[in-house]
Amino acid sequence: MAGTRILIVEDEMVVAMDLEQSLTNIGFEIIGISSTGEDAIFKAKSLNPDLVLMDIMLSGKLDGISAASEIISHQDIPVLFLTANSDKSILDRAKIAGSYGYILKPFSIRELAINVDIAVYKHKTDKELKENDKNLKKLNLLLEDEIEERKIAEYKINNLNEELNQKNKELEQIVYVASHDLRSPLLNINGYARELKAILSTLKSETGKHSIPEELQNKFNELLGNFADDSLDYILKSTRKIDKLVNALLKYSRLGRVEINIKKLNVSGIIDDILKTFDYVIQFNNVQVIKGDIPECLGDELQINQLFSNLIDNALKYLDTERKGIINIYGKSNSDFSEYFIEDNGIGIATEKHHEIFKLFYRLDPGKTEGEGIGLSIISKIINKHHGTIKIKSQVGKGTCFIIKIPNE
Ligand SMILES: Nc1ncnc2c1ncn2[C@@H]1O[C@H](COP(=O)(O)OP(=O)(O)OP(=O)(O)O)[C@@H](O)[C@H]1O
Ligand SMILES: [Mg+2]
Repeated sequence: MAGTRILIVEDEMVVAMDLEQSLTNIGFEIIGISSTGEDAIFKAKSLNPDLVLMDIMLSGKLDGISAASEIISHQDIPVLFLTANSDKSILDRAKIAGSYGYILKPFSIRELAINVDIAVYKHKTDKELKENDKNLKKLNLLLEDEIEERKIAEYKINNLNEELNQKNKELEQIVYVASHDLRSPLLNINGYARELKAILSTLKSETGKHSIPEELQNKFNELLGNFADDSLDYILKSTRKIDKLVNALLKYSRLGRVEINIKKLNVSGIIDDILKTFDYVIQFNNVQVIKGDIPECLGDELQINQLFSNLIDNALKYLDTERKGIINIYGKSNSDFSEYFIEDNGIGIATEKHHEIFKLFYRLDPGKTEGEGIGLSIISKIINKHHGTIKIKSQVGKGTCFIIKIPNE
């Protein structure tokens, strides 16, 4: 290659100068001539040539092979040997020294030029290969680091999940025990309040039967009047409410404790059974229920029944009394999942409440309808247990559609 900067190491000055002349003539640049190995090492360091043309037999302490070894150990420079000796052991030494070949003297200048070009080219590609190799190794290390990091993250997530499951179980246990144990004191309060109400009414009727001094009568009226009666009614109403909430909590926490038994379910049949139980409400409110294609799914029969029961209950409960209620129930499926739509033309739910309604005991308008606000929490739990999803599309004044997806494997 024209412009290649060459250091010539040759102890016979005439040969060296002849080489310089010939190589310069064909476009190479001779940047230095050394006649000893020591000088060659020095010049290689200071001039940093593209190639060293090294005679093997040098006068002085170092021969060409030793000088080349020293140069190569510090610098990445290709060395091309020149030798008149074709002795195998010498040529083997030259190979071990890491040279880029040798040329046997006598040689033509054309032969030399070709060998110089080959050595420079080979050195360049070797360098690129080494660079690529280095980059590959770096990339490999980075990848290995990333894999390691991912493994650690996965491990942490698994641990956290396990912790979360454990905490959930503990929480369920606490809710279960608390709600279970609340029931007997609640029954006591309810029982004694009833008894007090009975005593109050007996006292009232007894005092009416006898003539007693006016002052005493007034005192009785003050104590046994409406206030006592109303207070007891309030206590009884509150205990009924607490009882309902406690029952709801028990139902919710039990759900987390039961084992599920997954099998292929005839969801269409399940929905028919549910609709029968709502028959009275449907007829009474003149609701039109349209049932389309309903695919099978893989699930726990009791829980899937509960899921659709709660959704149909809501669809009926939150219809708009101002217009005829219409409820559409349909579905579709593929090999991955079964999807169900429960669509009503009821009062609808404001977008900002779409997440809220899944919270335990959350109700949008508690005064208007009966309920504990637990139906959708139960649905969420069932969906989770089945690794499914629930989505809601709703518009106030137009209606609501709940979309359930349950995986088929
Ligand atoms: N189809 C629907 N249309 C309009 N609002 C709905 C619908 N379904 C649920 N909601 C709203 O979401 C709230 C929570 O529903 P959820 O089923 O959890 O409880 P609930 O029906 O009030 O009581 P429960 O189901 O415990 O008897 C309801 O109070 C209601 O405000
Ligand atoms: Mg409900």
